[in-house]
Amino acid sequence: MSVELYGRSLVSMRDLSGEEILAILDKAAELKADRAQVFAAAPLAGMTLGMIFQKPSLRTRVSFEAGMTRLGGHAIYLAPSDIKLGRRETTEDIALVLSRYVDVIMARVFGHEIVADLAKYATCPVINGLSDFEHPCQILADLLTIKERKGTLKGLNAMYLGDGNNVAHSLMYGAARVGLNMTITTPPGFEPQANVLEESQQMGRETGATIRVLNDPAEGAWEADVLYTDVWASMGQEEEAGARKAKFKSYQINAELMSRAKSDAIILHCLPAHYGEEIDYATSRRPNSAIFDQAENRMHAQNGLLVLVTG
Ligand code: CP
Ligand code: NVA
Repeated sequence: MSVELYGRSLVSMRDLSGEEILAILDKAAELKADRAQVFAAAPLAGMTLGMIFQKPSLRTRVSFEAGMTRLGGHAIYLAPSDIKLGRRETTEDIALVLSRYVDVIMARVFGHEIVADLAKYATCPVINGLSDFEHPCQILADLLTIKERKGTLKGLNAMYLGDGNNVAHSLMYGAARVGLNMTITTPPGFEPQANVLEESQQMGRETGATIRVLNDPAEGAWEADVLYTDVWASMGQEEEAGARKAKFKSYQINAELMSRAKSDAIILHCLPAHYGEEIDYATSRRPNSAIFDQAENRMHAQNGLLVLVTG
């Protein structure tokens, strides 16, 4: 496989070819398999990850920080109040200055253009730790989890129910790249961006993946190998949460939906979960729920990425 990820940024799932995604997943699985060996080898010894946050986080912050420790490196958390992105100095200057200190930058931002600009100006790799438009690290972890549970990705059917948001966008690109069929089912008016659908359908034609958007939650669940959901109101949309509840209520992953699904369909949720909204608690705890493996796999998938972009 001719995969060269050294020095590369990950702003969008579009940036990665199918081969590159699979190489990251293979490296992630290798690092996950032998913690003691990874710690002894310390592939990121002496390296520092700078982590910029404009939004809150549990998984992204801790998985990157713990991941850097496991790889023999170090991570610095930069809270919204530390950097004051866009208010204290320009994104360009932040990228140029941070590049003089750290080996990789990870950023969780509101506007996608901020992480794109960081990658444009930084002289080290920049990783998107979630923007309003995409969440690529999440999708690397999701694909790793699906591969672990199902043994493959290509040709499987995944169904995402809920908001056509950042997670949905990255899922569409990532699925298209690896040949995973992806159905995104949203209430009318909450579909993913039309250009993402067009682009991912185009990518899917090269790998055999069918990418489609539906509005009827009763359609398609029967053939899904993977059922996935996310919060109905994302970070930054808190004031819409109440109004969205009524519009989204029939898009819940619950016992009724599972009764129409394959008995071996796995359940994914990127977390945090709002139980009783996008998923009910009992369904989230079924044996075929992989949501906590998925959370753990954030660290392993990102470790695979960190090793490949730095070494
Ligand atoms: N899934 C995810 O990105 O979680 P956090 O918002 O807690 O980082
Ligand atoms: N769509 C959610 C994902 C959280 C990990 C958000 O942006 O808040």
